[in-house]
Amino acid sequence: MDKVALITGISTGFGKATSEILSVKGYRVYGISRNQNEDLASTIKVLKADVTDVDSVRKAVDTVVAKEGRIDILVNNAGMGISGSVEDSSTADIRLQMETNFIGYINMIQAVLPVLRRNNGATIVNISSIGGIMGLPYQGIYSASKYAVEGMSDALRMELRPFKINVIVIRPGDFFTNFTASRKKTGSEGAASSVYTNQFSKTLRVIENDEKNGFPPEFLARKLSKILATKNPCQSYSIASVEQKFAVLLKRILPGKLFSKIISSHYAIKP
Ligand SMILES: NC(=O)c1ccc[n+]([C@@H]2O[C@H](COP(=O)([O-])OP(=O)(O)OC[C@H]3O[C@@H](n4cnc5c(N)ncnc54)[C@H](OP(=O)(O)O)[C@@H]3O)[C@@H](O)[C@H]2O)c1
Repeated sequence: MDKVALITGISTGFGKATSEILSVKGYRVYGISRNQNEDLASTIKVLKADVTDVDSVRKAVDTVVAKEGRIDILVNNAGMGISGSVEDSSTADIRLQMETNFIGYINMIQAVLPVLRRNNGATIVNISSIGGIMGLPYQGIYSASKYAVEGMSDALRMELRPFKINVIVIRPGDFFTNFTASRKKTGSEGAASSVYTNQFSKTLRVIENDEKNGFPPEFLARKLSKILATKNPCQSYSIASVEQKFAVLLKRILPGKLFSKIISSHYAIKP
């Protein structure tokens, strides 16, 4: 294996698990995160950078190129979630969400594309979410950031066809990672005056419970490593429980009103 992979958000969760599996498979793996995880296998080279900071992203990419002369795979994975009602979400939190989950992906793509273009058959993997194809209550801003990733990825895929660069979107369902503990609760939680406080608490319990009972990140990492080894991969993959895959199907075929009713009920929202 002669391939160089650059993965963002490598300190925990999907990024850590994916980097370790790819490293075992023989990829030369570089990772970006703001913190270093001492438990990470020593074969993985960690570059400290913040995906929202263009200069630090470019420095990290330059370091990989100086060492390897090439990058074959970018996995855009670094992300976080804010949660709360749309009405109570502060502009600062909305900006943080979009800067990290959406603009951060574009910062990486813009930095690596001149390098990827030199290779024959490079791949960009954008980690989206099932929340990127259906709005989830009290995760509206997070869903918006992932919808943005989905739309951008569709356009990018067509723009990169002439350069034989593949764009794959991965939509995880619920997984148990640091994502749950790192979630930033915006606005309504704790604000006695908010009309959403009670409902937010109820819905947040469901969200967190689903995540805590979700798959471990290694499950996604194994699937992703198989997808990367596929000769002709699909454009997108949902990696989720049977119920969540069924919800993806229902979203496509049910009338919107009925689908919203089902999802609301799952999240303990009554009319
Ligand atoms: N867990 C789930 O159920 C789930 C479901 C659907 C989609 N996803 C998506 O999967 C991706 C990975 O999440 P995860 O579940 O693995 O969560 P996680 O364990 O919290 O990992 C997030 C990673 O992103 C890094 N990161 C965050 N902000 C960053 C920044 N500004 N610059 C550089 N690195 C940054 C974190 O490292 P530092 O803090 O050290 O920088 C960490 O390594 C995210 O895009 C998330 O939206 C997760």
